[in-house]
Parts: sequence; structure tokens; C-alpha cells
Amino acid sequence: MIYSRIEGTGRYLPSKMMTNFDLEKLVDTNDEWIKTRTGVERRHLAGADQATSDLGYEAAKKAIENAGIDKEDIDLIIIGTTTPDYVFPNTGTLIQDRLGIHGCPAFSVEAACSGFIYALSVADKFIQTGGTKCALVIGAEVMTSLIDWSDRNTCVLFGDGAGAMILKPSSETGILDCKLGADGKYKDLLLYPAGPSKDFKKIGTGEAKLIMSGSDVFKVAVRTLGDAAEEALKANNVNKEELDWLVPHQANLRIIQATAKRLELPLEKVILTVQDHGNTSAASIPMALDVGIRDGRIQRGQLVLMEAFGGGFTWGTVLMRY
Ligand code: UT7
Repeated sequence: MIYSRIEGTGRYLPSKMMTNFDLEKLVDTNDEWIKTRTGVERRHLAGADQATSDLGYEAAKKAIENAGIDKEDIDLIIIGTTTPDYVFPNTGTLIQDRLGIHGCPAFSVEAACSGFIYALSVADKFIQTGGTKCALVIGAEVMTSLIDWSDRNTCVLFGDGAGAMILKPSSETGILDCKLGADGKYKDLLLYPAGPSKDFKKIGTGEAKLIMSGSDVFKVAVRTLGDAAEEALKANNVNKEELDWLVPHQANLRIIQATAKRLELPLEKVILTVQDHGNTSAASIPMALDVGIRDGRIQRGQLVLMEAFGGGFTWGTVLMRY
């Protein structure tokens, strides 16, 4: 049996940081509301000269260094992102070029906040079929480029960042199972309604903006993530108490608490970054994983469940032994 095993991880956060108190000066909000409703205290913002590929490149460099591999060994690059630099070339190829490697397939996967889990699932399949020997999987976003800074319903939630990992085949256990889901009937609850083939001219004019029916999204997210987490454990004959870590998408502390409660998992066993990063969409899980691994909480051999939920709706879980 071939497993995909994480050889190294990395993350990058832009240096510019915005606190809830900074936001109080922009919109009618306050630190107390943002903290109690979302858990967010601060978020990082990409600089004017930083695009998604720049953030992804920095995270990738750290993952390569952490894995101790030669970058020439990479034979697959997949990036989950909803905020690509360009329509094309895809952001994966831009990062490939920045890394100075050539020839391997590089592409992006667009599944909103579930983008990294989707990308990781695809990479896992490439490795399991024996075709890929060293994959670079990235989640990177400049979500703040989509933000209407006068809309307090959404501008307090998001941040920018990138996380990356190097995956290799191994006979030791690694990724045990990936499960993905989607339901387009929810497309109108969370969306940025403009793109190359529809209302393109609205982009950048303020006419197009991120729209979210917050409390509706919240309810479906809580239910779907709880169901998905339980299903992932059940399908793999894992009891709740066997789980060492939950690494959830960092959209809202209250959503994370609800999932943890359903799994009967104390918050000490959940990697939380929402307070420092905000919702970084596809970047949130790989960054949280990197935090947990680098500070020594997540140890080799431990059982980890990652789970994501985002616009579409899309969702997914990855169960693995680190
Ligand atoms: O990553 C993809 C998935 N995304 C998510 O999972 C996000 C899911 N949704 C949420 O996290 C929450 O719904 C929010 C954090 C977005 C909102 O929290 P909520 O508890 O659902 O609040 P709400 O939208 O029901 O608004 C409650 C009140 C409203 O005032 P009234 O109508 O009760 O007078 C809002 O106008 O809070 C008001 N409000 C704010 N007040 C201060 C909304 N935004 C703000 C704000 N500051 N920034």
C-alpha cells in the first residue's frame, strides 16, 4: 500500500497586519463584536505589490526547506486558490517559474475555502497511483482583494496568506482517506458574482463585491462540517477519542467549537489560528497545520483530521497519520 506522507510544511503571512481596532476606524464595528461573533482579533494583508503567487512562492520555499528536498525533485504542483494572479497562466505555473523548476504539471484548483483540501485530495490520488514521487501542494489567497471595505458584514472576516506542503509516497501510513463534497444549490449564499465570462467589467469598479448570507452559511457550515467529520471517522473505523488533532478551516471560532463538540474533542486538541489570521480561505488549513507541526503539538504518528467548507458550497475532509 502506498500512502502520501507529509515531508515538510511552510506558511507565509504578509507583514502588514490589521487589528479589529484598526477596523473600528473604517466601519461601524468594534473589537468586542468581532471577537465574540467570529474569534478573529487580527488578520494580515498582502502588500500592494503582492499577488497570490508571491505568497504561495514564499510558503512553498519554506515547505521545500522544511522537507529537506531538492526543488528539482518536485514532479507535481497543485494550488488551491480562488484569487489567482491572472485568468491564465494558472498560479501554479507562476510559482513553478519563481521556484526555477520546469516541466512538471502545475495547475490550480478552484473550490473557494475548500480549495486546499480539494488540491490535497487530487495530489494524494496522483501519489497513490504511482505517477508522482514528490508533490508540492499549496493553498494561497489574497482574499482582501475581493473585499468591500465599507461592508462590515464581510470586511471584518477575511485575511491573506499561504500554506504549503511537500508530499511523497511512503509505505508508512500517511493520508488515510480524503472525502470531498459539494452542493451548488447553495451558490447564492456565498459568492463573488463576477468573472471572465460574466460581468467581467464589474471587477475592480466596486460594482462587484463579496456577498455572504452570514447566518445561513453559518447554519449549513455547522451541520455539514459536523456530518463530514463524523462520516470521515466512521468510514475509517476510527473512534472519536482516537483523534489527536482537528485542523479545521478557520472561518469562525463558533463553527469550529460546534464541530469540536460533535467530535467530543476538547479545544486543546484543535489547532486554532482564526484569532491571528482571520478567514484566509484555501490558505487557512495548510497554515494552521504548519503552525501545529512547527510548534511541536502535532507529532509524527498522530491522527489528524482536516476539514474545510466554503462557497459553492464545497466541503471536504482529510484523515491522516502525520
Ligand atoms: O469560509 C467560508 C464559510 N464562511 C463562513 O463559514 C461564515 C459563516 N458565518 C459567520 O461566521 C457569521 O454568520 C458572521 C460572523 C458572518 C455573522 O455573525 P452572526 O452571528 O451570524 O451575525 P448576523 O449576521 O446575524 O448579524 C447580527 C447583528 C446584525 O445586527 P441586527 O440586525 O441584529 O441589528 C448585524 O447588522 O450584527 C450586526 N453586524 C455587525 N455589528 C458589528 C454584522 N456585522 C457586524 C460588524 N460589527 N462587523
